[in-house]
Amino acid sequence: MQTETDSLLAWRAEFPILARSVYLVSHSLGAMPRRVHDRLNEFADTWASRGVRAWHEGWWEMPRTVGDLIGRIIGAGPGEVVMHQNQSIAQATVLSALDWPAGRNRIVTEGINFPSNLYLFHALEREGAQIVTVPSDDGMTMSLDRMLAAIDERTRLVSVSHVVFKSAFVQDLAAIVRRAHDVGALVLVDLYQSAGAVPVDVRALQIDFATGGSVKWLCGGPGAGYLYVRRRLWEGLQPRLTGWMAHREPFAFEELPIAYADDAYRFLNGTPGIPSLYAARSGYEIVGEIGVEAIRAKSVRQTDRLIELADDAGLRVLCPRDARERGGTVTFDIPNGHAVTNALSTRDILVDFRPGAGLRASPHFYTADEELEVFVNELRGATGSSNGHRG
Ligand SMILES: Cc1ncc(COP(=O)(O)O)c(C=O)c1O
Repeated sequence: MQTETDSLLAWRAEFPILARSVYLVSHSLGAMPRRVHDRLNEFADTWASRGVRAWHEGWWEMPRTVGDLIGRIIGAGPGEVVMHQNQSIAQATVLSALDWPAGRNRIVTEGINFPSNLYLFHALEREGAQIVTVPSDDGMTMSLDRMLAAIDERTRLVSVSHVVFKSAFVQDLAAIVRRAHDVGALVLVDLYQSAGAVPVDVRALQIDFATGGSVKWLCGGPGAGYLYVRRRLWEGLQPRLTGWMAHREPFAFEELPIAYADDAYRFLNGTPGIPSLYAARSGYEIVGEIGVEAIRAKSVRQTDRLIELADDAGLRVLCPRDARERGGTVTFDIPNGHAVTNALSTRDILVDFRPGAGLRASPHFYTADEELEVFVNELRGATGSSNGHRG
């Protein structure tokens, strides 16, 4: 019924896989926009016809021009976002620009942050950083009070995920940034599970660093991560993870020491992954055109509906039930989750399963209400669950 008035469904024709499957896995890999075919052809044609001239006819600028498409989704200004290969590299770049002096050497993070980020923080113990990992009681949510209490004058960096990948739990960035700045600490936020699904405004929130990637809600495909750094910090940051593109005069190939670029190119390293940037643009343009507010409104309605359907089917939901605390994903406690996910896949119902997280399902702006019912019915069938029997 809702579907008849859902204008976002007009976008379905732009995503070929939707004609063949119930696609509820945009928290993992967003569906491919049809126009990616054209964009990749455009890349090949440009390379074939323009050759080396392509660098100065747009390629060189792509880390910034594509970054600007992300900027308008996350509230950054023009030139404030640059593209990297993935989120891990973007985080590592930020970390490589910081020092860990005794007395101001703590990184405060959550135990349920994405593993890449935790691996990077722990590697910094060798350089004198002290990692304060705030535990989650249930492996799904974080206590804001406990997080705020862990941040003090010894903290150099607070690093959190806006939306936790395992459980879709939404963290209160405004409170975390306020506390961090009150004690003189910087804030690095992983936006991977929020950008394109949950509104975020990096400038309004006064976030110092934000990172993310393309693969999920932004429908941009692999090979394109992004980095936002608050403009007023640029001058003071000299990343150790660097390269010739970060130089003020890259084509002068000057000797040591590096003279960092004045703009956000100072956070780049080597040659950018141009084909990935061509592919990624399409998804960013579509998400930017729709607007994250509209995507979020639909997501809240459909994730609420999924939880309602799950309750009726006797399936146990693990993610927060309150939409204000939940991103775009609903997680289910399903025994034999791997096997069930595979069984659903053979029926062209695409979701995923992560140990410790459960079976994850996500409607996105292109999802029809009927597909939620199809999914829950099939899931009930695959698990043998029936109304009144939770488990
Ligand atoms: C919150 C979050 N951060 C980071 C990543 C991975 O980032 P990348 O593979 O681009 O380094 C993921 C998922 O793959 C994620 O969900």
